[in-house]
Amino acid sequence: MIETIINNLNNFFESNNVFLDLCRISDNKINKILIKYNNKFYLIDRRCPHFGLPLTSSSFIDNYITCKWHGCRFSFIPDNATPKENIIKSVIIDKEDTSWIENELQN
Ligand code: FES
Repeated sequence: MIETIINNLNNFFESNNVFLDLCRISDNKINKILIKYNNKFYLIDRRCPHFGLPLTSSSFIDNYITCKWHGCRFSFIPDNATPKENIIKSVIIDKEDTSWIENELQN
């Protein structure tokens, strides 16, 4: 399992893709999305804060996510332009460190 996830992650790191649905590549065990932005990798919850629906078909532009279900717009980086209720908590991932994957699999 973890080797499959790491292989998918390495492909993602080298690709032009903006996000990776970790739920899909982990047999539904990691309910997170990894987002690539400005050469950093942000781990966020896969569920939309509005109604809990999956964010995977949303649009990801810069640090903003627009959920496809009801159109709410969120930022995964705190900024002055976004109300705090529209900030999604994120964790920056070091692509050389895979220990976070095991932590996620245990949750
Ligand atoms: S579930 Fe995302 S905007 Fe409603």
